[in-house]
Amino acid sequence: MNILPHTDPTPADKRAQLMLDPGFGRVFTDHMATIRWTTADGWHDAKIEARKPFQIDPAASVLHYAQEIFEGMKAYKAGNGVTLFRPLENARRFNESAERLAMPTIPEDLFIEAIEALVRTDRDWIPEGEGSLYLRPFMISTEAFLGVRPSNEYLFCVIASPAGAYFKGGAKPVKVWVSDDYTRAAPGGTGAAKCGGNYAASLVAQAQAVKNGCDQVVFLDAAEHRWVEELGGMNVFFVFDDGSMRTPPLGTILPGITRASILTLARDAGIAIEEAPYSFDEWKADAASGRLKEVFACGTAAVVAAIGEIRFTGGTQQIGDGQDGPVTRRLRAQLTGLQRGTEADPHNWRHAIDMG
Ligand code: PLP
Ligand code: COI
Repeated sequence: MNILPHTDPTPADKRAQLMLDPGFGRVFTDHMATIRWTTADGWHDAKIEARKPFQIDPAASVLHYAQEIFEGMKAYKAGNGVTLFRPLENARRFNESAERLAMPTIPEDLFIEAIEALVRTDRDWIPEGEGSLYLRPFMISTEAFLGVRPSNEYLFCVIASPAGAYFKGGAKPVKVWVSDDYTRAAPGGTGAAKCGGNYAASLVAQAQAVKNGCDQVVFLDAAEHRWVEELGGMNVFFVFDDGSMRTPPLGTILPGITRASILTLARDAGIAIEEAPYSFDEWKADAASGRLKEVFACGTAAVVAAIGEIRFTGGTQQIGDGQDGPVTRRLRAQLTGLQRGTEADPHNWRHAIDMG
């Protein structure tokens, strides 16, 4: 990786001010990682450089046919070091998204090297305490060509953003809107890929959620409009009164790394947990009867967020007592402890960055 430091980085006092209350995705560091790919040369020209706007041809295929994929991960201050959480899983999922979008895959070690080099270069931007440095690797097709076929040129890039809580209320339970007119992904579609188009298609449903006083939208399956899939940017888990748990199965949802980690943590703890379909009708009935005790959303950006209420056309339904429940709290504490190095790490999920 060629390191080309910024010639005019953000002064320390301005950086400190920006990092006081960064929120999510609004503040960016001084550098970015970029790597080019062409059919002729493969991956080449890997560098860390000053973060700046791209020069991109107006005919670049990403602007027309949306060949774009991304990832979301975080770097944490852990003791005296800096850690990533299961970055190899992000690299693998990135390549699965690439294959679905007919884009080139990137060697996993190159993906991780780009992230590590950026974190090292922008180390002063990693928040202390509960914050983290949100990392956004992505790839766009850059060939100037209007025919509909995979591009012959791509740009891989990683940007970094100091981040606090995703939801404005912090750990306060969120409300979710169950969309009955929009769906996110159909069988055979791109639901399992992390491509920008999925999020573009979710925005109008998310706007409806906000209009109805909710924080996030819940999507049901496209075929029957019956089975709970996931939220606009998070997976979902259900906790029942007998201690068992359930989460929707993989297929048309994003295979969340937080989701996979929670499945393992719950199984380690001896919880009966299944990946099985759950209908919206069951959700409402179980919440009303009290069989359903807790529901939470999970993802890199949101971590583990309790869902206190669902809203839908024709009604609302509180979940349990509407508060952050004990299972949700315990799993959140365990996961964040693992990420930050205060919990034992039996599965070797923590990845220390050599800060040089
Ligand atoms: N589902 C969607 C649609 C997402 O955008 C995300 C966030 O990345 C997730 C689920 C959770 O995935 P992860 O836990 O890997 O961040
Ligand atoms: C993440 O959790 O990393 C996401 O990508 C969710 C959202 C911000 C798109």
